Amino acid sequence: MADTLLDVRHLVVEYGTGSHAFRAVDDVSFSVPRGGTLAIVGESGCGKSTIAKALVRLLRPTSGSIELDGTDLATMSEAKLRPLRHRVQMVFQDPYGSLDPHLTAQQIVAEPIAVRGEKSRKVQRQKAAELIDRVGLPTSALDRKPPEFSGGQRQRIGIARALASEPELLVCDEATSALDVSVQAQVLELLADIQREQGLTYLFISHNLGVVRAISQHVVVMRAGQIVEEGRTVDLLARPQHEYTQRLRRSALEPGLMTGVKPRHLIRAIAASRAAERKTA
Ligand SMILES: Nc1ncnc2c1ncn2[C@@H]1O[C@H](COP(=O)(O)OP(=O)(O)OP(=O)(O)O)[C@@H](O)[C@H]1O
Ligand SMILES: [Mg+2]
Repeated sequence: MADTLLDVRHLVVEYGTGSHAFRAVDDVSFSVPRGGTLAIVGESGCGKSTIAKALVRLLRPTSGSIELDGTDLATMSEAKLRPLRHRVQMVFQDPYGSLDPHLTAQQIVAEPIAVRGEKSRKVQRQKAAELIDRVGLPTSALDRKPPEFSGGQRQRIGIARALASEPELLVCDEATSALDVSVQAQVLELLADIQREQGLTYLFISHNLGVVRAISQHVVVMRAGQIVEEGRTVDLLARPQHEYTQRLRRSALEPGLMTGVKPRHLIRAIAASRAAERKTA
């Protein structure tokens, strides 16, 4: 398909080898349209992060293909992969663990700009400042270090750092899960704005169906390394087929889970999916 950015086919990822091998991802196939968002949901240990790590090639898949715009990253040698790595970037759940506490926000964001080949320190700093502004942090944030920021602010720095590589695909692994609900909604809204502006493609991993509903058009449900259900987010959340998805949905609709969420983006998305649910009920 011309409009597919990421096409994953028969992906298998094992930890360990031989008789000790554990198959964490077992023959998984999905695709993500350019400029769209696919969510992956599923219980703890089902293989979501393993897929994310395979996509950015922190892990080498056992078999299968990961085609980005027709180029298979799964089996590519490290040397060939190096110039392509910037195209797929990851935003982690724990921004604290993934940001160097000794560097300023500006240094953190400038680093990938330097790696991309920008030699001038001045231009690196200037571009980093623009990105830090883009993710909604004040100029005063430039010279501060990760320990001086809140969780939400750190996640914004993580997003700015990912954007600094000029990626086409952003893999967000529970990127907002550690945040308070209202801060989570703000970060989701930022990601949605950036996607609208830049046409960036997202793979969004979450265990929160409210988040999935707000951010994604398509969703894949995993269990024990395999896909058990997939479809358009509105359809799947309105009429979950698989027992596991029904259970996930019931727990997500429990009162109180999404209270306190103010930003209009999230509220609109939830209202739209409730309306779709009523229509199909
Ligand atoms: N480095 C590793 N070595 C061996 N097994 C691993 C390793 N990392 C993960 N696993 C196993 O692979 C399976 C999938 O793990 P993974 O981290 O992908 O799950 P997940 O869906 O991201 O879970 P969570 O929602 O808790 O983040 C689990 O059974 C886990 O114990
Ligand atoms: Mg995980």
